[in-house]
Amino acid sequence: MANLKPVPVQDPSTTSSHPLDPLTAAEIESAVAILRVQRSLGQRVRFESIVLNEPPKDFVLAFEDGDAINREAFIILFDNDTSATYEAIVSLKERTVKSWAHIPGVQPRITLDEFYECEIAVKESPEFRAALQKRGITDVSLVMVDPWPAGNFGVEDEQGARLSFARCWLRSSPTDNGYARPIEGVIPVVDLNKMEVIRVEDHGVVALPPNDGNYAPESLEGFRTGLKPLEIVQPEVPSFTVVGNEVSWQKWNFRVGFTPREGLVLYTISYEDQGRKRPIIYRASLGDMVVPYGDPSPRNFRKNAFDVGEYGIGMLANSLTLGCDCLGQIYYFDAALNDSRGAPVQIQNAVCLHEEDFGILWKHVDWRTGQAEVRRSRRLVVSFIATVANYEYGFFWYFYQDGKIEFQVKLTGILNNAAVDSGELPKYGTLIAPQLAAHIHQHFFSIRLDMTVDGLQNSVYEVNTKAEAKGPDNPQGNAFYAEKTLLATELEAQRTVNPMSGRYWLISNPSVHNELGQPVSYKLAPGENVLPFAHPESTVSKRAGFMRKHLWVTPYRPDEMAAAGPYPNQHPGGAGLPEWTKADREVENTDIVVWYTFGHHHVPRPEDWPVMPVMCTGFSLLPVGFFDRNPALDVPPSDGGNGHCHT
Ligand code: CU
Repeated sequence: MANLKPVPVQDPSTTSSHPLDPLTAAEIESAVAILRVQRSLGQRVRFESIVLNEPPKDFVLAFEDGDAINREAFIILFDNDTSATYEAIVSLKERTVKSWAHIPGVQPRITLDEFYECEIAVKESPEFRAALQKRGITDVSLVMVDPWPAGNFGVEDEQGARLSFARCWLRSSPTDNGYARPIEGVIPVVDLNKMEVIRVEDHGVVALPPNDGNYAPESLEGFRTGLKPLEIVQPEVPSFTVVGNEVSWQKWNFRVGFTPREGLVLYTISYEDQGRKRPIIYRASLGDMVVPYGDPSPRNFRKNAFDVGEYGIGMLANSLTLGCDCLGQIYYFDAALNDSRGAPVQIQNAVCLHEEDFGILWKHVDWRTGQAEVRRSRRLVVSFIATVANYEYGFFWYFYQDGKIEFQVKLTGILNNAAVDSGELPKYGTLIAPQLAAHIHQHFFSIRLDMTVDGLQNSVYEVNTKAEAKGPDNPQGNAFYAEKTLLATELEAQRTVNPMSGRYWLISNPSVHNELGQPVSYKLAPGENVLPFAHPESTVSKRAGFMRKHLWVTPYRPDEMAAAGPYPNQHPGGAGLPEWTKADREVENTDIVVWYTFGHHHVPRPEDWPVMPVMCTGFSLLPVGFFDRNPALDVPPSDGGNGHCHT
């Protein structure tokens, strides 16, 4: 769980140096104070989000140091008494509520405070205690309760209620890995507005699995030997510089932001080329993510989670530890967020910035002369890691010296699991320990890339490689070629991967050309990917429509930020990308947003237990004709030109 600490707040008249700087703790406190007074808010109000109301793009792009900045907060709040949700914009400069709107029929994310309060409420429920007793569980202090979202299955009395269908586990001692023992079949249904259990579903007793699943050193014996010290030493300062939230490294320049919903946000990513700062991405963030599970049983069919839109992956970020999460000379950014009552909280060391050696960048040996040229590759890493109850997600952006950008999600932590009867072999899961199964599932991530390849006006092309028909032009049958197709409208631009045709997508600026006359482009190169197996008419498919296509392109609209819509919690479905793109708007030579969905397919293995070795999934963005030649020729030999890297 996140490491949240109250922060002392000083003077709220904070001065920010850039319009995209995230809100400070003082600004969060100030925004809440203004709203509380001017809207006469009661004590039962909860604050889902208090974030920077980002200024218009044209203002940001024209901004120069010293220009006046009108800082504003965008706030989502809800009232537990009325179950009503509101959006507000507060001007911090004018100390006024600039806008206030009731948003009917939505449920904001489940806040972290509700995680804690829900566990307490469940443990106090007599009905829940009776279900425990039926299973011989007497010490309720050892029970763990995870507040899973309810989804929306069209059940009439669930509409409009703020619900969690919790899932429970039992520790054998206060520090035991409780995820080894699911309290199978017991699902407390919690009204999060009243914070009380409204009923307990009991699907029948299944025995607790017999074995512990502990992985901390004190529970293990016989560590392997032979590991000698391997030290990362940077005897001088690191090669990056950080000024406020602006990062510069090896011609790259960008700004770091952080929100409770999306976690790390990167802004105004550019690469300096022959003295020119060339923009590539205006804003890069998580559009949403969803984890559909494949077990249809009455006790498990509800299992799916939107960890961005239903929980808030930034709110669940870890405080990172030097030498463990990141190695070398590290710069950390803290994240200023809020608790559900509007008080500022700070996640220290939420974002890690450091550089890594990455093997070779390029090499050639002239075999006749023996002359060898090789350059070491260095990459800049910006990352954060979130703990979502049992699972860990690490989100890593990598910047390389040859203009490449890579995004990787590292999946680790503990499998979500279920107890099964002795001898049962689950069809929809894998036995990972005696009487313990982990269900088959998938993780779909939607990345929102507000592209600015050498300017705002961009187009997207799909490139497929085709085999030439055998004939007079191809008598030997060896011919194949890459074919480029414009994706001119939103519906044309809804695409899936096709490794068989080497498919990728080009984001081009049709008005800017390289020396060869080619439009400057960046290529979105898919990595591992998969399609969902949930039926198209299933509720999770409707609610996470973004997962049914890998590529989506939309014209830029400032209010289109979330792939499954702004309020996926308990939403009936259809919101976000499927809804916006019905209009089939033009996306050619205009200010566009590229959304890429990538899925990690997870058939659990015994080796994933009790804690999973990291699995990686992601994609790359590579320059294609963005430069006139290899942009990394100017990387010097790592020994300064005097040694064996250059002969
Ligand atoms: Cu998984």
